[in-house]
Amino acid sequence: MTKMRNKRVYISTIGCQMNVYDSDRMLEMLAISGYEPIDSFWRADLVLVNTCAIREKAVQKANSFVGRICGIKRARPDLILAVTGCVAQQQSDKIAERFDGVDIILGTHALHRLPEYLRQFESAHTRIIDVTMTTDIDHFETERAPGAPADLSSFVTIMRGCDNYCTYCVVPYVRGREMSRIPDRILEEVRGLVRDGAKEVTLLGQNVNSYGKKEGLCSFGQLLEEVNAINGLERIRFVTSHPKDLSDELISAFGRLEKLCNHIHLPVQSGSDRILKRMNRKYTRADYMERVEALRNVCPDIAITTDFIVGFPGETPEDFEQTLELVERVRFDTFFVFEYSDRPEAPATQYSDKIDPVEKNRRLRALFDLKNVITGQTYDRLVGQTGIVLVEGLSKKSRQEDSVTHAGREFSGRTSENRIVNFIHDDDSLPEVKLHGRLVPVRIEKACANSLWGRLVPDPSATVQNKGGNAHAA
Ligand code: SAH
Ligand code: SF4
Ligand code: F3S
Repeated sequence: MTKMRNKRVYISTIGCQMNVYDSDRMLEMLAISGYEPIDSFWRADLVLVNTCAIREKAVQKANSFVGRICGIKRARPDLILAVTGCVAQQQSDKIAERFDGVDIILGTHALHRLPEYLRQFESAHTRIIDVTMTTDIDHFETERAPGAPADLSSFVTIMRGCDNYCTYCVVPYVRGREMSRIPDRILEEVRGLVRDGAKEVTLLGQNVNSYGKKEGLCSFGQLLEEVNAINGLERIRFVTSHPKDLSDELISAFGRLEKLCNHIHLPVQSGSDRILKRMNRKYTRADYMERVEALRNVCPDIAITTDFIVGFPGETPEDFEQTLELVERVRFDTFFVFEYSDRPEAPATQYSDKIDPVEKNRRLRALFDLKNVITGQTYDRLVGQTGIVLVEGLSKKSRQEDSVTHAGREFSGRTSENRIVNFIHDDDSLPEVKLHGRLVPVRIEKACANSLWGRLVPDPSATVQNKGGNAHAA
């Protein structure tokens, strides 16, 4: 009798950490149905494309990948192709019409039904589309299956959806209303992750500061306290905090909770009050500056990162100047810059005063150049300091090199401030496994464009005092 081979799934994940989290949950569910993940779609029995609709480029990326798989399907008609996530939610009709080869289309609230739909498809071979949405998070909870090895740094979705309706943004339409998971489930998940090897968790929500408010659960600050108390967990991060809701309670948590990392991602989007109003962000430039000051009062060396959209409809050169000026003032550690992109359903798509693409790109580059200057200055000042690094493994460079000895191997990790540090050590006998997952002090010797470079401090036990990271510089 021939042994049945496991079926194989290839997953392509486009988009934010929430999609990464959802993709991991789908893989776990599929493992129970006998699918093992592989890293080449050529050998797959099932290809899953978990999509993002945040900008047109992300949608194009999904479409071109789906088109490619449809091409492969012509030679291998038994291959199953499923499209899930934010584009599936918003544009299921378009996908169905454009791509004959797509077998299953699941919106953001239907992912938990993937195994059931697969079985259904395997027997009936008729296309399945489910883009129903719900206002009850219990209907589509996809909890982590305990026992599987956890990533050293793992994501935990604590809330879904968004009620903020920024005028440029597609998220409220593709992810639905804001809903929070109950604290016990979150805490149980974090404990499980720690048992299975995680040292760091990043709590995910579109606006974590409104966690639990609608449902009358605990506050985000209280949830952080509880996560902070979990034994074996070393570091906590979260994304994203909306500036309008950044409370004093959360700011004080940075001073109190030793595991909470010394970093906050606080997307500002623009430095101009006129544009912020048109974006429906509900804070002014002065409000934002005041919150930054409050954060720095509690934690003087906190790393603040942000997002900007350039070329929002009606953004004048003067508005853009205000953005540049805000960067100079706040001195962000680093930031992302996006060219404004029209999204179906988002109100700004209807605004008439669109910015010319060439000008949008000019603003993108100007802001990017300023980022390089400011980040460069910040990183230069870190040379000579010691940072506590959570070691994730070999650096990109060393993974590519075929080095036989340990000598000269470069490791990589992040500081509490979320700065990437690549480092070497002088102890040839120290094996990689001994460093992986440890918090070690690294003396910074060089600043690179997007990372730091240094050398392991020889006697780690002598220097690590605070594991989480509020007390450390680099
Ligand atoms: N909830 C988070 C953001 C999630 S989307 C928040 O409110 O900050 C991540 C980033 O994508 C946003 O911060 C914004 O800078 C960018 N973005 C969202 N919609 C966009 C659009 N239509 N065009 C360009 N960038 C966009
Ligand atoms: Fe989009 Fe605004 Fe919600 Fe963030 S807060 S997800 S930018 S609508
Ligand atoms: Fe993209 Fe959906 Fe996240 S639109 S950014 S994957 S919530």
